[in-house]
Amino acid sequence: MATIIGGVATTHVPSIGKAIAEGKQGDPYWKPFFKGFDYVHYWLAREKPDVAVVFYNDHGLNFFLDKLPTFAVGAAKEYRNEDEGWGIPVAPAIAGDPDLSWHLINALVADEFDITMCQDMLVDHAVTIPMKLMWPGKNRHPVRIVPVSINTVQHPLPSLKRCFNLGHSIGRAIESYEPNMRVMVIGTGGLSHQLDGKRAGFINKEFDKLCMDKIVNEAETLTHYSIHDFVEEAGAQGVEFLNWMAMRGALTGNVSEVHRNYHIPISNTAAATVVLENRSLAERKAA
Ligand code: DHB
Ligand code: FE
Repeated sequence: MATIIGGVATTHVPSIGKAIAEGKQGDPYWKPFFKGFDYVHYWLAREKPDVAVVFYNDHGLNFFLDKLPTFAVGAAKEYRNEDEGWGIPVAPAIAGDPDLSWHLINALVADEFDITMCQDMLVDHAVTIPMKLMWPGKNRHPVRIVPVSINTVQHPLPSLKRCFNLGHSIGRAIESYEPNMRVMVIGTGGLSHQLDGKRAGFINKEFDKLCMDKIVNEAETLTHYSIHDFVEEAGAQGVEFLNWMAMRGALTGNVSEVHRNYHIPISNTAAATVVLENRSLAERKAA
């Protein structure tokens, strides 16, 4: 059977890709952010995931304002990236896992989620940057992915509760998947940031800390925020936290935080990285 080993959530700011391309990880500006990945690398080397389900938001590369699904699930053999205009190198294609994709799609539709299924899907910086951060220097990533895109761009957005439940449906589906494999879940984006309008540059450290604290074992309390209230607290693009909610929803066992890094700012964003370990109750007892 498939096992869910845990989740990683991290910021996906495009300029990180530029810093990687230019080898600036050790520069004073970048070091506090990149250092936060030392533990992630250790954890991934120890846990050896085979597949990652990646909750992220597309920023106009695959979906645009003319047609924007609330939830879209990839079912492709591989996922290509293209130039988004940020001046960062185009990332190599990432391998998919169509069998797992279709298993998740079937389970989601059975759970009454009306998703868009994509047998062809470009992935943008919200997938490629976190992959580069987790597996630096590799042209072929050691994991296959199932990308799940959540609309955080064009209102009305899905609620925090809906995204948490979407994650939960995926978590249950992974646990019912026959093949033996180690699955991790990833949530990208956030934390607080606003890129345009009167509050451009807005960051809310206290609210970010609250979100990072609550997501571990009280994520349900965050579902009480309406999208409007969440934008007020976290900024217009801070709603990318919906991807974190879905990631957390997919962790169906006993969850503990094993790593956290928070640094202000990276570009216009409060940059955060967390690793949440997921252990089934049976595993906990055996340990
Ligand atoms: C930035 C942050 C994002 O989440 C994004 O998608 C693009 C840019 C930024 O802070 O520059
Ligand atoms: Fe973004």
